[in-house]
Amino acid sequence: MAQQDTVEPTRRDFLYIATGAVGAVGAAALAWPFVDQMNPDASALALASIEVDVSAVEEGQSITVKWRGKPVFIRNRTAEEIQEAKSVPVGELPDPLARNSNLPADAEASDTNRAAPEKEPWLVMVGICTHLGCVPLGQQGDFGGWFCPCHGSHYDTAGRIRKGPAPENLLVPPFEFVSDTTIKVG
Ligand code: FES
Repeated sequence: MAQQDTVEPTRRDFLYIATGAVGAVGAAALAWPFVDQMNPDASALALASIEVDVSAVEEGQSITVKWRGKPVFIRNRTAEEIQEAKSVPVGELPDPLARNSNLPADAEASDTNRAAPEKEPWLVMVGICTHLGCVPLGQQGDFGGWFCPCHGSHYDTAGRIRKGPAPENLLVPPFEFVSDTTIKVG
């Protein structure tokens, strides 16, 4: 009995780590609706970047992947969503800053500064509400973007806070298109 007690936890550890590895591969393939990339050892994965194949994400669709333990929303926006986001004067936004890790800190929150460079339908954002950290729901709320049900924060179709207690726009993480259909996050 004592021997079994020693063996079993080891097997479980192995399975846990193996599951994490499968999750990491999954992030490179289509992730729908949520890739649960297990995180067995935070220190090993903390600096990792992920590559996400977005070839199957059609206009009007989103995926959520996990990067450094956080959800990241990737959305292929519709023309209407882009138009709506562009029609709002930056001066009227509660948070006028782009909050885009790829741009200078003082970049303004225009739609262009929020979207992927030269691929304006694509929006990549850390899916954590800037109020107290809940995960907002997609394509909901008064502005058709994201809605955080925890305390009622409404984000628009560029992920900018428009109404509610959240102080900042959803963060755009470091990312780039490394091919026409692959986004590297981190
Ligand atoms: S955590 Fe999102 S509104 Fe409070």
